[in-house]
Amino acid sequence: MNFEEKRDFFEINIDDAKTVFDNTNPLHLEIGSGRGEFIYNKAMQNPDVNFFAVDVKEKRIKTIIRRLDENIHKNVKVIKVFIDSETITKFPVDKIEKIYLLYPDPWPKKRHYRRRIIQDDFIDNLNRLLKLSGILEITTDHQNYAEWIKEHFDKRSDFEPIYKEKYLRNPQENHIITYFEEKKRAEGCIPYYFFYKKIKNLEEL
Ligand SMILES: C[S@@+](CC[C@H](N)C(=O)[O-])C[C@H]1O[C@@H](n2cnc3c(N)ncnc32)[C@H](O)[C@@H]1O
Repeated sequence: MNFEEKRDFFEINIDDAKTVFDNTNPLHLEIGSGRGEFIYNKAMQNPDVNFFAVDVKEKRIKTIIRRLDENIHKNVKVIKVFIDSETITKFPVDKIEKIYLLYPDPWPKKRHYRRRIIQDDFIDNLNRLLKLSGILEITTDHQNYAEWIKEHFDKRSDFEPIYKEKYLRNPQENHIITYFEEKKRAEGCIPYYFFYKKIKNLEEL
């Protein structure tokens, strides 16, 4: 049996992360893992953190699984699911320390803006999953989506930017370049890096 067959394609009813990973290490979630560069490296650099890597496309999921090393990446669970305001609620509430959303689809046409994953109710649900002081990292290459993200977070009092600037244009130390970022940089794009900290629970709003 190869690695791919052994890996679970999780049914997302993950209310007890401990039974999924068999330990109580901190939990991180990556939404839209693509070809898996981020999760491959991040999980290797942080063996004492457990990672959920999520993508909607089966082909992408298979690529990620193929890449992961059975012995090194014991701290990664790969999940095939379309994340939206409903499915995101299946993840464990108030337990996740970091959520990564790297290059979510920008849906550039105005009539498609409602398909953007960043929406008020979606951010509410990210709040529910994150622990207090949990971190949300969002990266986009798309200027209009960057403005959209900024506007959505500017009006909230439950998240605050970690840095003085609302977004950074340079990668931070230990930055992992994903396939998509490499491609966009080659085209001359300079990404927008957002880092938010959850400072309040929803009930406090
Ligand atoms: C532009 S790619 C970026 C991939 C990767 N993060 C990177 O930086 O290379 C967006 C990825 O998100 C996935 N995706 C888009 N919408 C999604 C959703 N609602 N739920 C889960 N995955 C999604 C796509 O299948 C694709 O792999």
